[in-house]
Amino acid sequence: MSRKEWWESFFRGAWLDVQKGRDTAEIVDPAAGFIELALALEPDARVLDVPCGEGRLSRAMARKGFRPSGLDITASLLTQARKQAKAEKLDMEFKQGDMRRIPWRNRFQGAFCWWGSFGYFDDAGNLAFLKSVHRSLKPGGRFLLDGHCAETLFPSFDERQWVEEGNTTALLGNHYDASTGRVEMDWTLIKNGRRSRRHSSIRIYTLKELSELAWEAGFSEVHAFGGLSGEAFELGAPRLLLLAEKARNAR
Ligand SMILES: C[S@@+](CC[C@H](N)C(=O)[O-])C[C@H]1O[C@@H](n2cnc3c(N)ncnc32)[C@H](O)[C@@H]1O
Repeated sequence: MSRKEWWESFFRGAWLDVQKGRDTAEIVDPAAGFIELALALEPDARVLDVPCGEGRLSRAMARKGFRPSGLDITASLLTQARKQAKAEKLDMEFKQGDMRRIPWRNRFQGAFCWWGSFGYFDDAGNLAFLKSVHRSLKPGGRFLLDGHCAETLFPSFDERQWVEEGNTTALLGNHYDASTGRVEMDWTLIKNGRRSRRHSSIRIYTLKELSELAWEAGFSEVHAFGGLSGEAFELGAPRLLLLAEKARNAR
């Protein structure tokens, strides 16, 4: 019998509040603006949000007139995504599935993976995800990855963190395992006085390793930014925005 992966049970219960807390115009609008620019989306372009969660960024892209599709593994988040899209009368499609096996091919002008949603798998799995995104893009299509890497995380690595999100408090114990290159995170979520615990595990690459993984997946051009204003990427940048392009002559 195969071992259960942490991400199969992490995204539920009190965590959903944390995810919902990110669905504000203040957070979403600048991200959507950067996605539009970086992916050089033409009017009406098809764009993939993977994994899409409850679709906060897909909806923002649909409001801008693009045609987003979202893929996520968590059924309850997709139910929420469909409900909100319907309430806003946005024409969008959401599918449930594993991000390593994106069901669309040669379809999108752009794709994005937002908010630390990369590095969940082992190296082969992370590569499989990038290959799957590459296959889903049209030739010349672009992919934008938002998250952390060694250069953003380690200059100010916190072994203990405290995050308030809506009416949920998250206490985090972070440990970097140098033998696996992963950050192991022990979460205690406190909502209405009730505690729940869970664990997450993220593979942390250097920018160079990540660029090599993107090339191995078939991407040609790879560029890095350190923020949503297109800041140059450097050691200690608050985040990594990695932009990769599928060659125009690729299949
Ligand atoms: C931190 S959330 C980010 C969601 C979204 N990108 C956003 O910015 O709101 C990570 C998401 O990854 C999804 N997920 C986890 N493992 C997955 C997998 N193997 N395949 C597809 N989605 C997955 C979870 O359901 C969750 O919605």
